Amino acid sequence: MLFTEAKFVAVGVGMTWRESHPDCSASFPQECREQCMESDNSMNTPYHKPVLLDEVMDFMLPAEGKLIVDATLGGGGHTEAMLEAGAKVIGVDQDEQAHEFAAERLKPHASSFTPLRGNFSDLPDILQGVGVNKVDGILIDIGVSSWQLDEASRGFSFGKEGPLDMRMDRSRGETAADLVNHLPEQELRTIFYEYGEERAGSKLARRIVERRQDKPFTTTTDLADFIASIQPRSKGPAGKIHPATRVFQALRIAVNDELGALRTFLNNASKLLNPGGRLLVITFHSLEDRMVKQFFRHASQSHVDRKEWPEPRPNPDYQYQMMTRRPVTAGEDELRDNKRSRSAKLRVVEKR
Ligand SMILES: C[S@@+](CC[C@H](N)C(=O)[O-])C[C@H]1O[C@@H](n2cnc3c(N)ncnc32)[C@H](O)[C@@H]1O
Repeated sequence: MLFTEAKFVAVGVGMTWRESHPDCSASFPQECREQCMESDNSMNTPYHKPVLLDEVMDFMLPAEGKLIVDATLGGGGHTEAMLEAGAKVIGVDQDEQAHEFAAERLKPHASSFTPLRGNFSDLPDILQGVGVNKVDGILIDIGVSSWQLDEASRGFSFGKEGPLDMRMDRSRGETAADLVNHLPEQELRTIFYEYGEERAGSKLARRIVERRQDKPFTTTTDLADFIASIQPRSKGPAGKIHPATRVFQALRIAVNDELGALRTFLNNASKLLNPGGRLLVITFHSLEDRMVKQFFRHASQSHVDRKEWPEPRPNPDYQYQMMTRRPVTAGEDELRDNKRSRSAKLRVVEKR
């Protein structure tokens, strides 16, 4: 059997992986890939290769007696390494397929591993649900996994035909098609400018609104081809990226309220950490990294100052000690092995 995109296009909203792959004799995505790869080498990729794994281990220092939360479980790569180092791990993901996949893959560690489904913006409630108030470390490795990107039916990739969905949690919220087909032009423009830093945001929003009156957008390739027809690839280095890249990034951020979830998470994290507990955040684009940098900088200052004050005052938000003055990035070996690591930035703070 071929593991073709056609198989994935059949995935419906709220379906489990099993329901969406009725013809596959394997019981989980990884096995399905492995079986199907025998007849299709183009799918020769693992679920997701964890980025900055050595660096995460060096800062998190997982060990027996420690309880760590991996709040972006994905394929469970970071979690697995922390379990192997002897820590107990609670793994959280809002994506049902990721949760199902990692829970199965990490079954051999069942006594130390608790997989949970949810959004990291709700972390205090999620942990309370399993009777946990404090932990020794929290990791978030934000964005989408390689699996989600590869999976045409999830609608994240402009290169693969699939429904224009982009929701990580398919049990709720609006899809990218809902936004593109119904938001006022002004809101689309703001999303393209602010989340995609797309300079042609105005023109694209206007043309999308004109086109949707005749024919709403339903698929990833329909939208990507339409954008490419308005602004073809430029010559030179900028032409290497597809013209729809920024719009797709912007829609994904809007659909999943990625910046809102990160802000809420940052505001909550400190009260979940034991003194000495560490918070590790890996980001992949400048909007997120800027938010993390500013938050960590402010929360690790003992005093704050303003021009109009005669002297600095104690900072009521002083919660952390900064562990990384500059973001940690991938070394040469990782850059060579994993293209995705190119834009990864890790920042770390420690609870006082
Ligand atoms: C980059 S992958 C993580 C990969 C993981 N570290 C590994 O080693 O396999 C990001 C994962 O985080 C999940 N995710 C993103 N935002 C989330 C949020 N707000 N709450 C919970 N999970 C989220 C995605 O569904 C995806 O599975």
